[in-house]
Formats: sequence, C-alpha cells, structure tokens
Amino acid sequence: MKDIIRYCEKNRNRYLSELKELIAIPSISTDPAHKKDIRRCAGWISGQLKAIGMKGVKIFPTKGHPIVYAEWLGAPGAPTVLLYGHYDVQPVDPVNLWTTPPFKATIRKGNIYARGTADDKGQVLIHLKGIEAFLKNRGALPVNLKMIVEGEEEIGSEHLASFVKSHKKLLKADVVVISDTSMFARGVPSLCYGLRGLSYMQIDLTGPNKDLHSGSFGGSVHNPIQALAEIVAKLHDEKGRITVPGFYKKVRKLTAKERRSFRKLPWNDRKYARELGVKELYGESGFTTLERLWARPTLECNGIWGGFTGEGAKTVLPSKASAKISMRLVPDQKADDIARLFTSYIRKIAPKSCTVDVSYIHGGEAAITPLESPGVRAAVRALEKGFGKKVLYQREGGSIPIVVQFKEILGLETVLLGFGLPDENAHAPDEFLNLGNFFGGIRTVAHFYNELPRFYKQKRSRR
Ligand code: BES
Ligand code: ZN
Repeated sequence: MKDIIRYCEKNRNRYLSELKELIAIPSISTDPAHKKDIRRCAGWISGQLKAIGMKGVKIFPTKGHPIVYAEWLGAPGAPTVLLYGHYDVQPVDPVNLWTTPPFKATIRKGNIYARGTADDKGQVLIHLKGIEAFLKNRGALPVNLKMIVEGEEEIGSEHLASFVKSHKKLLKADVVVISDTSMFARGVPSLCYGLRGLSYMQIDLTGPNKDLHSGSFGGSVHNPIQALAEIVAKLHDEKGRITVPGFYKKVRKLTAKERRSFRKLPWNDRKYARELGVKELYGESGFTTLERLWARPTLECNGIWGGFTGEGAKTVLPSKASAKISMRLVPDQKADDIARLFTSYIRKIAPKSCTVDVSYIHGGEAAITPLESPGVRAAVRALEKGFGKKVLYQREGGSIPIVVQFKEILGLETVLLGFGLPDENAHAPDEFLNLGNFFGGIRTVAHFYNELPRFYKQKRSRR
C-alpha cells in the first residue's frame, strides 16, 4: 500500500484545491433558486469521476435533482461495493453568523470551513481521492465499485428509492458504504452501527379569519400562538417522555450489553454541557446522554412562528401560527405509524377554538448494521490503519433513510464509515471538516478497498 499512501501524500495540495472547487458550488437542494447550481454540481462530480478513471459515468435525471452514477468493474472474483454519498447541502442562513463566507472554503487551525465540507461533499471526495490513488498508480482497484451520488439527501431523498427500485440490476453489489457520519471525537476513529429514523411534521393552527387588533379583540378569542404553545408544551411530560399515546410501544429496549458498551466510551456530561453553553442537560429520565442520543426516540420543535416578529412593536392578534416538529425514531418504530399517532394526538388535544392542520413532510426508518459483517470488519481494520488508533463502536442520532431502503430493496447491509466530528457544525454556520480527518479518511478508504476482498474470502472459507 506504500505506493497508494505516497501518492495521496504527494497530492495533498491538489486534493485540497479540488475540495475548494466542489465547495464553491452552492448546491442547496431545498432552494429552487439554486437549481442551476445543483445541476452544475452534478456535472462537476461526473467530470471528476471521469478524470480519476471511473467508467460508465452517467447523470440520471429524476423528477427532482439528478443522481450521478459511475462504476469500475475490473476485479473479477472480488466483492462489489456500492458507494453512496450526496452532493447537495443545507441552506446557509443565518449567513451573518459565518466567520468566513459559506461557499469559500477557508482553512483555520487545521480545519477547513465551508458548507458541505463535512456533510457530505468532503466525505464524498475522500472516497474519490482514495479511488484515484489506485486507478492512477495501478490502473486497477482491489474491488469492483459502483457509485451513486445524489442531490436530494438533505430534503428527504424523495426520488432515490424509486431510482434504486428501477435499477436493481445496475446497483447489484455485495455491500453499501456511506461516509456521511462522524467519528466519536477528535483523533478517536469509530465505526458507526446505528442511525435514528425520522418523522417530520408540521402543525398549522388558524384562529380568527384575519389578523385582529390585539386591543379591540384581545380577550374575546383564543390566540392561535398561545393555543400552539399549549399544544407543544403538552408533548413532553415532567420526566422528559413524549406523551403521544403509543409512541414508545415498538421501541426496542437497549440490551444490558449495549448499555455497558456505551458506558465504557469516554464521555463527560459536564464537559458536553459546557461546550454547548447550557447550564444543565435535559432529556428522558432514566437514560444516559449517549442512550438518549443514540437509542431513544425524541420529539423536537424545529421552528415555531406566527404573528409579528419584526423590529419594534405591532399590537396584533394573529390569525395563524405554525410549528415544524421532528421526531427521531429508533428500531422498531415505523415512521409512517409514528406520523399517524402524532397526527391523531394533535387533532385530539387541539382546542376547539382553532382549526388545526397536521401534515407529514417526510420520514425515514432507523437502521442498525450487524457488527460481524465482513464490510464492518474490513472498515474497522482500515480505520486502525488509517488513523493508527483503536476503533470505538458507536451509534448516531442523525438519520440516513436510504440505509434501510438499500437493505429492503437490494438486500444489502451498509457500512457507515464516517470522518466528520461531533462539533463539525453540520447544518449550522461555520461547518468544518478537520484536515486530519480528510487525509486520514483518504488513507482509510484506500485501506478499506484493499482489505475488503480478504474479509469476503474469510467469510466464504468459514462456511
Ligand atoms: N450527514 C447527515 C446524517 C447524520 C447526521 C449522520 C448526524 C450522523 C449524525 C445527513 O446529511 C442528514 O443531515 N440527514 C438528515 C436526514 C433527513 C433530511 C431525512 C437528518 O438527519 O436530519
Ligand atoms: Zn445533512
């Protein structure tokens, strides 16, 4: 592997300037104003794939944003990896809270700052650069590789599942690899084996049929903002448990073994609270912070609005109030079931004084990867080689809904080989990727592709 590692070292500067180029394309998937940038970004990825020597590069249009596909199938007898990543990013507002412009990648103190560095362009490029090292040095990869890079992950991957369903043969593989999660801490490589699911909801309340003068009318009708606040306040009890009836029914209990393994991880609640600037932590009673984050479901209000929010004062009793609510789910909760339970509970507790409308925006299922699969074992070995440290096992609180769909549609397990950091500011101002993780990630994926065939052989010979 010396040739590969040396090539990566020699090309560090070019790798970084390519990351800057990719970052400079503001591919915000949720914003129709950036549709052209999304296209441009798909084009950049496909150009890059051709340049590193991938074959069959193709941009598949969808009803939403395009999916970029590529393959390299020159390793007969070796396993086939399906690599998935996303080139779309989250919006950048509030833009005034960024230290440097969000689409101008800037290096400070060993980190590269910009939207998409960690989530997920930087992590996609980590793979492309590892792959390049093989193809340019040896003209071959140790595995067969298929790749899809989509542009709708941050808005719920709406068109991806139907693409996977209608391209089962094209996507046939042995294992899926995704780099879109984080390591446990700085300098602590970890293998992620669990993601939470998600049901994303919106509540719209309407009171009077128009905005009213709060003096002339205040006291005679229920203010929809107040009514909404009363609803939201009822969604947790005093123990931090969610009150939606049936919400916990399908929740898989943590095993004693898993609880023990979480407890062994280096974790400090006080330090965590200090870093987040909160006076104390909050959560479901009876569970540790890591259990609450990784293995227990939650309900969060993401945004709430209504009435007058401008500068100064305006005395108004508004007609409408709304809230966006996300519920993070764990095995074996089902996103659609939870959305239904939520909807009927909100309808039940909403006061008669207002009209309530509940909508289900998107959802996805929680995922667990078996630790004994050859892909996971190869990934652990590769992380040890790439970072020179012992690997920890962890779950994550975030969601990648396609993971479960890969299992259901293609029958494939996913290896989550993440190189972000817990404080990387994903979806927030000053998102960054640690440069040590960028280059360590490139070494790791190179080792991963190199190690994988061996783990598949072991699997075969043990049968
Ligand atoms: N990279 C994240 C997933 C993630 C988040 C993994 C946190 C580990 C920790 C991904 O890009 C993402 O943000 N996913 C969305 C999914 C949603 C839009 C369906 C999420 O988790 O909010
Ligand atoms: Zn994201």
